[in-house]
Formats: sequence, structure tokens, C-alpha cells
Amino acid sequence: MKKRAPVGSIEHVGVTMKDLRAARRLFHETLRLPIAEYLDKEDAFAVKAGNTVIRVVDAQSNEAKHGRSGVSHVAVRVASLKEAADRCEDAGISMDPDQAGSNGRRAIWSDPKTTLGIPLQFVEQGVELKFQAHNAASLVERVDHLGIACHDGKVASDIYVNGLGWPLECTQTDSEFLIPMEITSNDKYGVASRAGTPIPTIGSGLSALFVWTGEFDLEIMQPLGPAKLRAPLGSVPGSVGQDQGAIARALDARGEGLLHICFKTPDIRGAIKAVKDHGIKMIDDQPRPGARGSEIAFMDRRTTEGILLHFAERLPVD
Ligand SMILES: [Fe+2]
Repeated sequence: MKKRAPVGSIEHVGVTMKDLRAARRLFHETLRLPIAEYLDKEDAFAVKAGNTVIRVVDAQSNEAKHGRSGVSHVAVRVASLKEAADRCEDAGISMDPDQAGSNGRRAIWSDPKTTLGIPLQFVEQGVELKFQAHNAASLVERVDHLGIACHDGKVASDIYVNGLGWPLECTQTDSEFLIPMEITSNDKYGVASRAGTPIPTIGSGLSALFVWTGEFDLEIMQPLGPAKLRAPLGSVPGSVGQDQGAIARALDARGEGLLHICFKTPDIRGAIKAVKDHGIKMIDDQPRPGARGSEIAFMDRRTTEGILLHFAERLPVD
């Protein structure tokens, strides 16, 4: 298929939260992201991570009906709503008839069933926002990626790469095997040991594609096995088996869609310490190896108002 220009650029990432005061504390005071207020009457505020505006709206608002709680939708700025609608139709994407905008702007929305569970909001205009920086340096350089669960990476690629024109950055497969250790102890000849044949049937892992939107990647993950894994692989924290189980369970419970925001940080150990000082509990107290040569650490969503967030420190790529 012929490569097409991207349908548009990111206008904002939409986040829905129940307690906006706590959300302000999390994003501005704990993560030290610059903050801005919208001038219309909606119960919403914005924070900025690198060039990306994150629009945080109240879970009771009309806008929140378009997506799930936590990371909720992605807004794309396009030259023309009409052209965007035509482009979507070409890509097999249906539009949601409820075309609610915000800040007096017109908008059209994709039917999330046709965009991997992600409501895409298309707008023609941006919003002027006056950001106020935190008085200490931000823990975050930019949004690294949005984590997304999907059933079929091929479909994901058809929608986002071939259809909407955002380039494929890379693909990755994570696998995990049990390797039996065979040990023979003999009273006369001593101990001999050897590693047996790896057993691949326990957890097959994950495959992921990274799609570049111009500001951050969409990390679209497909589990290669079921949600329930035989111990120990599915229960070892930070293992591929546990990641596979988590994505598969998310698909079973909520279907395809947005899962988490990853913030790129220049100093993951410093960032972990700083958020813990603000009462955030970490799933990963110590950074662990992540995708694309990174170290990552997830925050416990029970201490982040229900939104799943993680840090990544990216190692330089040759
Ligand atoms: Fe991630």
C-alpha cells in the first residue's frame, strides 16, 4: 500500500479523572508538569509534557462519555474535518454521530470500535493555553508513548499506519521460557548438571508495534497467550509472563483500548524517589528493562487516582 501523509498532528491526550483537585496535585505538584486552566466553563485543566498537552476532564463531564476513565482519548488537529472524515472512511473507520467539541470548537469523533477502542477526536483549531511552570525542574521530558492493548497487531497497523499515515517506528516481540535444570548427584562420581530444553508452552509473551504520531509513540501490544498463566511465570513481578497476563486480562475485562501513559525522564532513579516522597507507591521500586533499550518503572495506580503511569529512561541508540 502507498505511504500516506499523517492525517494530522496531536492536539491533546485526553484524560478522565474523578477528583480533579487530586489530579492537579498528581500532575503539577508530584510530576512537576506545567499547568494551565481552560478559559471556558468546563471542569478541566491541562498539563504539558514536552510538547504534548494532556487535557484532564472531570469524569462526570459530557466529554468523559467518549472514553474510559484514566487515559481516555486522543485528539488530532487536522486541516479540515471534512477531509479527516473522508480519510477515516477510506481507512474503514466509522464516525461517532455524537460530535461534541470543547472550548467552542467543532469536533468529530471516531467510533472507538473501529479505532482499536481509542476514541479519536478530530479538531481544526488549537486552544491558547497559558502554562505555569512548577518552581522545580519537571521530572518528565515528554510523553514517551501511550500503551494500548489490541487483539491483532495486523489490524492495528492497517488502521494507524496504512490508514491514518502515522509511521511505524519499530516492532518488538517479548518471549519467556522455562529452562529446566537437570542435576545428577552421585555418591561416587559427584554432581553433574545441565540445562534442559526450554519449555515454551507456559507464556508465549507479547508482540508490540510502535507507531510515531509526531510527538510520542503508540505502543500497541498484543498478548501471544491467554490471561491465565501457570506459575511461576505469570506471578513473577516484572516478567514477560506477568506483562502478557496483564494485557490479556485488560483485553478480557475492557476490550481493546488505551491503558497507560509513559513519561520519558532523564533520571528514572531520581524520578522514583521524588514521586515516592509525594506518597506514590511504585510497582517497580527499582527500574527494570523495558522496550527499546529503556529502563522502566510503573507507579501503583491505587496511588495515582486510578490512572496507570510509568516512567522510562531511554538509553541512547546508535
Ligand atoms: Fe509502556
